[in-house]
Amino acid sequence: MNKRTFHQSLSGAAAAALTLATFITASLHAADKKLTVGFAQVGAESAWRTAETESIKSEATKRGVNLKFSDAQGKQENQIKAVRAFIAQGVDAIILAPVVETGWEPVLREAKRAKIPVVLVDRGIKAADESLFATLIASDFVAEGRMAADWLAKKTGGKASIIELQGTPGAAPAIDRKKGFEEGIKSHAGMKINASQSGDFRRSGGKEVTEALLKGAGANATAVYAHNDDMALGAIQALEEAGKKPGTDVVVLSIDGVKGAFEAMVAGKLNCTVECNPLLGPMAFDAVEKTLKGEKLPKRTVVQDRVFDASTAAAELPNRKY
Ligand code: AHR
Repeated sequence: MNKRTFHQSLSGAAAAALTLATFITASLHAADKKLTVGFAQVGAESAWRTAETESIKSEATKRGVNLKFSDAQGKQENQIKAVRAFIAQGVDAIILAPVVETGWEPVLREAKRAKIPVVLVDRGIKAADESLFATLIASDFVAEGRMAADWLAKKTGGKASIIELQGTPGAAPAIDRKKGFEEGIKSHAGMKINASQSGDFRRSGGKEVTEALLKGAGANATAVYAHNDDMALGAIQALEEAGKKPGTDVVVLSIDGVKGAFEAMVAGKLNCTVECNPLLGPMAFDAVEKTLKGEKLPKRTVVQDRVFDASTAAAELPNRKY
């Protein structure tokens, strides 16, 4: 080998070594690369919502995911801005708990164009093009409303003058829990919703609305049906301030199954809660990981819920995780 050939083969070997080193570093980086996920949350209107946020945050930590969190304070425009910001930051995936059902197509199309999968949790949307989201993980809110109605029909022998406290207008759980409850009481001529208004899923909303309705169309109410526990707890306060005994004079039932509801049942002030599981973190991140690997997901995963009433509350309270 002459001097020149020797130098040529030396630089060839160096180039090959460099390529190999680059390849190894890149592979190590890929293995190390943390997923970055944006979570666009509705807000912090209820104990249920706080439990859901906590579930997503703790699961992200457990899996070493870099989570970008946004609280929309109950406003869709804030959520849309948050989703746009996640897209601009180039996150790997987005988890969205949509505040209302409609108006999502434009921003979800932007996410799709950027090839960022969107996993919907807790609340569904109305969109003609279902390819705009990877999957929806949520409870069946219509079924929850029906379970509440069936329980009330049994408890009252099919006779009740009802105040309904609705959730946030336009939100899937408000629409569907109303629908399910109305379907459930339809076959009972003695059950009527005499007054119905939104308390925005908040304890303060439940209290204020109940106070007002007790002075008008709901004056003779024998039952309060609240779309969530927080509003029911507010209604209990309003009933007490109006000199009524919640749980006895007026049957109170709601949805969520948070600890505060179980405590109120043990105290005899709330009669029933239909569970709606907010601990969606593990399922949400399973879905994120699968969709990023290119696995096809079911369009909808229904979370199973149960009914609890005062007869089982004390035994169940120590088991409640939220
Ligand atoms: O979407 C789930 C509902 O939203 C919960 O019932 C309620 O507490 C929350 O704010």
